[in-house]
Amino acid sequence: MPMEATSTTDALSGPAREFLGRAPGRHFIGGEWLEPAGGATFQTIDPATGAPIADVAQGGPADIDRAVAAAREAFEGAWAKTSPSKRTGMIWALAEAIKANLPELAELESLDNGKPVTYAKGDMAAAVNHLRYFAGWPTKIEGETLPVSFPDAHVYTRKEPVGVCGQIIPWNYPLLMAIWKLAPVLATGCTTVLKPAEQTPLTALRLAELIADAGIPAGTVNVVTGDGSTGAAIVDHPGIDKIAFTGSTVVGREIGAKCGQQLKRVTLELGGKSPNIILPDADLDRAIKGSFAALYENTGQVCSAGSRLFVHSSLHDRVIEGLAEFAVQAKVGPGLSEDTELGPLVSAEQHERVLGYIDSGTSEGAELVTGGGVPAGNGISEGGYFVEPTLFSGVSDEMKVAREEIFGPVLVALSFDELDEVAARANDTDYGLAAGVWTRDISSAHRLAAMIRAGNVYINNWGMGDPSAPFGGYKASGVGREKGHANLDAYLEVKTVTTRL
Ligand code: NAI
Ligand code: MG
Repeated sequence: MPMEATSTTDALSGPAREFLGRAPGRHFIGGEWLEPAGGATFQTIDPATGAPIADVAQGGPADIDRAVAAAREAFEGAWAKTSPSKRTGMIWALAEAIKANLPELAELESLDNGKPVTYAKGDMAAAVNHLRYFAGWPTKIEGETLPVSFPDAHVYTRKEPVGVCGQIIPWNYPLLMAIWKLAPVLATGCTTVLKPAEQTPLTALRLAELIADAGIPAGTVNVVTGDGSTGAAIVDHPGIDKIAFTGSTVVGREIGAKCGQQLKRVTLELGGKSPNIILPDADLDRAIKGSFAALYENTGQVCSAGSRLFVHSSLHDRVIEGLAEFAVQAKVGPGLSEDTELGPLVSAEQHERVLGYIDSGTSEGAELVTGGGVPAGNGISEGGYFVEPTLFSGVSDEMKVAREEIFGPVLVALSFDELDEVAARANDTDYGLAAGVWTRDISSAHRLAAMIRAGNVYINNWGMGDPSAPFGGYKASGVGREKGHANLDAYLEVKTVTTRL
């Protein structure tokens, strides 16, 4: 599709620009690039300028039909015949292909999502590591021989791939979240119809090219672009056995209900309002720096962001001062500028939503310590979706900014006195994705870790992750776990085989 050259696309390197030149306004189905059945397209937007980057295919039910048929054919055919050892080789080859094209993928991600290109490189490196971890699994998916108590019997279990998956990806870590979804599919022998978010389809399309290069059989991975209606067509399709979704809790509830009705397997990775707790004996420099990154990284667009900061009352003023200093110094700008620390938000919709939360904080009486507006200067285009790093103190538990997921660079600070008190307040939320504790006291750290109902607790860090470490939510933050071998179970059925001897 012909691209409208924006000032930011001019800043791209040769390979990234070449990709945009051939950027497929088509779906990747059965190893081929197919025009959307209805002929409809939509534009993906550069969040740093608001200018269109590329026309992308808008998928509908007919496209999903074709993709599911291709995925079913591969599941029963070429992919089923691919040995575990060969699957390992292909997953590893895909990791190598991402590594070999890492700067290009990072630029495309930065352009489409707005994130600093330096951080996008980190996402790509994490995607490589993720695939390497899962590459080891195909040869280690084992059933068991069972010591049954009746005589003359041989009973064993087999772990079998669940089938054709539908995978719906968010826009905050587009390529990395696609890899979190794809890796267990490839490791277990499933196939998939994967849909990137409409805000950020570019790197998934480049990934489709790399998947073909890695020798993964046609139809194993199908990439269909489109919006929420395309996602809904995937969820509704009777030929899909399992759905994996990352995104908003609202849509997650809807998908969970539909999957329940259809008895499809489902994993959901949803929102959060994660408590980050600074105890009186914390190493303050570390705690302040870490708590700043816990919220403002990726411009606050992180499901596991440390978005409710509980500071012990004895430290309150020092912590607020330290955070405000970081916020004022943080370099806000276009993602493709090498020195940018905070890029724009992903879309006009998110921009409006986040500014609305800032208004609500002010009108409910929180104290605006710093930020709150739309920045200017420093190469910032007026059409971009920028928001200043914003800090509220004097926030109380009932305020909307303390209860709802903002998904932007807005940190709310609350004050506490006692451990039991802060644990109860930390748990007073529908969510349960992550939590953080900053302390030098080992018993307080682990006591709190046990008391908080969340899938991930970070002690003296925020968000240190590894492909081997499960990630997911309690309560309204989701169902199931990604990463680690726990993730494989979501893509496997257990079959018990009983023989009378
Ligand atoms: P969303 O949940 O609408 O979109 C996420 C993905 O789901 C996209 O690929 C979208 O096309 C698809 N989708 C949307 N509606 C669907 C439906 N009815 N059936 C199937 N698929 C559907 O999220 P949105 O509107 O982009 O962002 C709204 C809020 O959601 C954010 O402000 C943030 O709070 C939260 N969010 C959380 C994410 C996370 O990492 N947990 C990621 C993205 C958003
Ligand atoms: Mg975009």
